[in-house]
Amino acid sequence: MPIYLDNAATSFPKPSQVTEAVERTLRLNAANPGRGGHQLSLEAGRLVMECRETVARFFGIGDETRIAFTANATEAINLGLFGVLQPGDRVVTTSMEHNAVIRPLRALTQQGVDVVRVMADSFGFVDPAAIQQACLSGTRLLIVNHCSNVTGTLQAIEEIGPWCRKQGIIFMVDAAQSAGIFPIDVEEMAIDLLAVPGHKSLLGPPGTGFLYVRQGLNLRPLLYGGTGNFSQSESQPLEMPERLESGTLNTIGLAGLKAGIEFLEAIGLDHVQAHDQELLGQLIDGLSSLEGVTLYGPLGSEWHGGAISFNIKNIDAAMLGFRLDREYGICCRVGLHCAPVAHDTIGTLPEGTVRLSPGYFNTTDDIEQTLTALRTIIATES
Ligand code: ALA
Repeated sequence: MPIYLDNAATSFPKPSQVTEAVERTLRLNAANPGRGGHQLSLEAGRLVMECRETVARFFGIGDETRIAFTANATEAINLGLFGVLQPGDRVVTTSMEHNAVIRPLRALTQQGVDVVRVMADSFGFVDPAAIQQACLSGTRLLIVNHCSNVTGTLQAIEEIGPWCRKQGIIFMVDAAQSAGIFPIDVEEMAIDLLAVPGHKSLLGPPGTGFLYVRQGLNLRPLLYGGTGNFSQSESQPLEMPERLESGTLNTIGLAGLKAGIEFLEAIGLDHVQAHDQELLGQLIDGLSSLEGVTLYGPLGSEWHGGAISFNIKNIDAAMLGFRLDREYGICCRVGLHCAPVAHDTIGTLPEGTVRLSPGYFNTTDDIEQTLTALRTIIATES
């Protein structure tokens, strides 16, 4: 069995409860939710509703109808940005964003939206004061990556959100790497738009994700079409979630997502986080003791979670990833991780880094084996 250390890309393996929920739903009830009055459609609709309620409970969302299910975080981010922004609007963002944010913003720039980027320091941390400074002068929306997929750097969203709320700035959070490891409460953190994938640390299947939209924000849809209700009308319903959810939902995936979140609720995020910190700490200690290793990010501080990036002197990152996989069965992600500006910020363009991202099911033994493999590779390369 390979050692999987690429949980920042997608979590693997999934809890058996997730596999069972997906299998059970596909086998027993893959009817179309909200598209009929027969028992199987009603049951599928109930399952979707229960998943919505589970997501709402987990993220402190008072009204579950404010959750629009999407295929992934990228779709949720696009839905939020294109749904709110208009030519002439000003957006503030950071240098730690993923291409899921960079590319829609570039497209919006071409439509007349003004984008301002706040630089992070070399650890990937963005000073909230610098964000506040950049947000003055008529900013409509701020979008911040909660946890970097390159360095695992966390941003102080609990400080930034309430400030934005007072200024009347829409606060959007990309929680692709943090949701399911770090607690997120949209009310406490004053988050207006929250984009989350279901398949990463929430432990659900691929093809799931959502956008939370704060009450009072009315977004333009990305997709128009059938919603199963108001069928006599040729116009898209204005109500949430149908306003933003056209076409058949992924009931099977949502059954898995619900099971993934319930799994996390049962073990507790404190426990998940402690395990993450333990494995990252072991990696940091082990990697620091290896010759020629440069580590990036806020290393083991309270602002670090989920992933660690490094390079080894005179060993190409891509070659290292290849050797780890082929010779030792260790799966990791190398290169730019779809976040070129973040790599520019930490000084690792153009080659990028080797990224190890442990997950809930990794053990200290996995990390020990990885460190031993790296020690051997360094010895053979020097
Ligand atoms: N954004 C994911 C990653 O960092 C896919 O690997």
